[in-house]
Amino acid sequence: MEQSVELPDPFRLESGNRVRSGADWQRRRREMRDLIVDIEYGGLPPVPQKTWLEELDTSALQARGGAKRVSCRVATGPDRPFSFMLNLLVPPGSGPFPVVLNGDACWQYVTEAVAAEVLRRGNILAQFDRVEIVPDTCRSELAEGLYRVYPDAGFGALAAWAWGYHRCIDALVSLDFVDASRIAVVGHSRGGKTTLLAGATDERIALTCANDSGAGGAGSFWLQAPQSETLADLIRVFPYWFGPRMKDFVDRERELLFDQHFLKALVAPRPLLTTEALGDLWANPTGTWQTYLAAREAYRFLGAGKCIGIWFREGPHYHGESDWNAFLDFMDWQLRGQEPAQRFDTNPYPGLRPAFTWSAPGPDAADRDESSGETT
Ligand code: GCU
Repeated sequence: MEQSVELPDPFRLESGNRVRSGADWQRRRREMRDLIVDIEYGGLPPVPQKTWLEELDTSALQARGGAKRVSCRVATGPDRPFSFMLNLLVPPGSGPFPVVLNGDACWQYVTEAVAAEVLRRGNILAQFDRVEIVPDTCRSELAEGLYRVYPDAGFGALAAWAWGYHRCIDALVSLDFVDASRIAVVGHSRGGKTTLLAGATDERIALTCANDSGAGGAGSFWLQAPQSETLADLIRVFPYWFGPRMKDFVDRERELLFDQHFLKALVAPRPLLTTEALGDLWANPTGTWQTYLAAREAYRFLGAGKCIGIWFREGPHYHGESDWNAFLDFMDWQLRGQEPAQRFDTNPYPGLRPAFTWSAPGPDAADRDESSGETT
């Protein structure tokens, strides 16, 4: 990866001035959101007038020591009605419980052991199937899912799936056994691209986690390591994940006024973790380390340098138990104050210099070199 590149500065306002105050940051945040959400993802589907939950079935789970399963339908309307399934596993007791919300039900990475661990730590496990919102295929003449409701929409599938997360949250916060202040979202790969977008665009999400999310997620378009997926690769196979304007930047990625650290910075100061695999070269782990370093400046500006984490394991692309456990440890740390046994800032690439020379403005950034093992 070349080192002469300068990643876009998230603190430079469109006016040319640099962010100096909290109010400036709020303005810059809106600018960044407009840029990245519109250009890359095609905007988000509209917020419905109303979202409600239809409870279909509740059953006690003897095998899970008093936990219960609640099957529901999330419905939106009354104009442009739409609905999809949401299934909850609720720990024993009356709560309110934090929630782990995952939209990758289509993939079944949540094994029995993962589900048991989520519950053991006192969380609700809420799962939906994002492909019920829109299918994971090119848009056909026969508009399906949310595209039936918004046939002329510009939003891509990632935005529609992120909308699914947001609607689950509308529904979850209405339940008295849910702790609305501690809802975490987690997803893998294209599902991780989705959770990053969902977390960046909804402040009700207390913690965002993306696993092996790569290009269009936690990876970098500006810094492509050998064998990593490029925008050209993405647009060739998955054009429907993005908004219609993104294809214009194929082979011109550095003309984008943003890179993926902007998306991460939009989550700040709310906790954000990406879990990564060193062998998943397609997902660009070195570029992902760079977007972490860059986004961490935004967290530092907001006095929340410890709220952004990155965690690497050996091995290839999958969402396994060690990834889940790292996420659950990070959640227990950030949302319950339990000191973690592992670090979430370990640099696996000590020789790699940051791909930017700017840093967080102001005295709040004074914790810049807080005890991380990395060489920056
Ligand atoms: C493909 C795609 C990636 C994506 C992955 C997945 O490999 O190129 O961008 O993250 O699928 O979703 O598993």
